[in-house]
Amino acid sequence: MIALGCDHGGFELMQEVKKHLAERGLEYKDFGTDSTASCDYPVFAKAVANSILSGECERGILICGTGIGISIAANRFEGIRCALCHDCFSAEATRQHNNSNILAMGGRIIGPGHALKVVDTFLDTPFSNDERHIRRINKIDEK
Ligand code: RB5
Repeated sequence: MIALGCDHGGFELMQEVKKHLAERGLEYKDFGTDSTASCDYPVFAKAVANSILSGECERGILICGTGIGISIAANRFEGIRCALCHDCFSAEATRQHNNSNILAMGGRIIGPGHALKVVDTFLDTPFSNDERHIRRINKIDEK
């Protein structure tokens, strides 16, 4: 299950993402927002982060205007590795190296054609399981 969350700045791109996931036969849970009315991105980052930490969803996609605010908010949650990616190289590398569990994008930055390729790359790339990457990920939460 893929958790989805966006604010008004990401709403339109998220509609394209939902259509695309449905066409691929992938299940998702939409945590909102549900319109282009102004709203606060941390609310949706929090809902998506909690759904992953609880095990309800395996991956998440978050979209705000830039992708910045919503990725900062998601990364406040220990165990969340939210990667802001606007290109396929970054999306592939963050899955292989960081085992990222959330993709963030900016609806005012990237068009739908490119964004859907970034989504596919993020969803289809496995973690490398490489010992050095595991060691580095474990160090992220060390105090
Ligand atoms: C909303 O106007 C905008 O600030 C938000 O979508 C996001 O870009 C924040 O980082």
